[in-house]
Amino acid sequence: MEIVICKTKEEASKLAADMITAAVQKNPKTILGLATGSTPVPMYTEMAKAVKEKKVSYKFVKSWNLDEYVGLPGTHDQSYRYFMNKNLFEKIDIKISNTHVLNGMAKDPEKECAKYEEQIKKAGGIDIQVLGIGSDGHIAFNEPGTSLSSRTGVVYLTPSTIKDNARLFFKGKESEVPTRALSMGVGTICEAKKIIMLAFGKNKADAVKGMVEGGMSQFCTASALQAHNDAWIFCDEESASKLKLRDYYAWRSATKLGL
Ligand code: F6R
Repeated sequence: MEIVICKTKEEASKLAADMITAAVQKNPKTILGLATGSTPVPMYTEMAKAVKEKKVSYKFVKSWNLDEYVGLPGTHDQSYRYFMNKNLFEKIDIKISNTHVLNGMAKDPEKECAKYEEQIKKAGGIDIQVLGIGSDGHIAFNEPGTSLSSRTGVVYLTPSTIKDNARLFFKGKESEVPTRALSMGVGTICEAKKIIMLAFGKNKADAVKGMVEGGMSQFCTASALQAHNDAWIFCDEESASKLKLRDYYAWRSATKLGL
């Protein structure tokens, strides 16, 4: 794991976006794994800026998203399909038919998940997987207690995730948040060739500490990234504040990135 520690989330988002831009410039057919949530939004804005400035094109890029709520159609303003269209896909030149988000309305959710895994495999696997982290250490919707080798499937949200996500639903009501989701598994995520994780703010500090310096455990599913050989964790000073070796990580990653 490489831990990049920046002063602000804007600075970290720019560095992460530059990494994706460079990868797509090098391989225009890059396969991206994408995340929703508030964390990647500034990075998506930077990616769109690079397209507008004609530095890069997503015309041949294909994407697969991490997760979707069960019971929300893509037209619902809290569905992850809607989020992706608004925050990224409509702002870059990607073909919408090349973007994939699990169908939360699928009649047979397990079949939908198996089909998704098959599609990713057929495309040659994810080249770069973007991730955020939950305050309980989850990646995608893989809550504490999920096997680190789990595959894409139907998952159940914990009360703490429902509480965290309620802010985005009608009147901030927890009862509005679906209790189930379709989610890529931890094992599926870890098969990506490269991982770019973003973690910002002090309410992520415990999760970041657990992911980086805790043992690898199903109680912090993000800790599975410890076994990945090309995982980059972009933090701001707040989210990195509880790391014991933060000065060392910051120096090492800055040296590797030539900063
Ligand atoms: C989103 C996802 C989640 C979020 C996490 C953090 O597709 O898979 O794991 O990355 O819940 O959410 P934010 O960024 O809103 O703090």
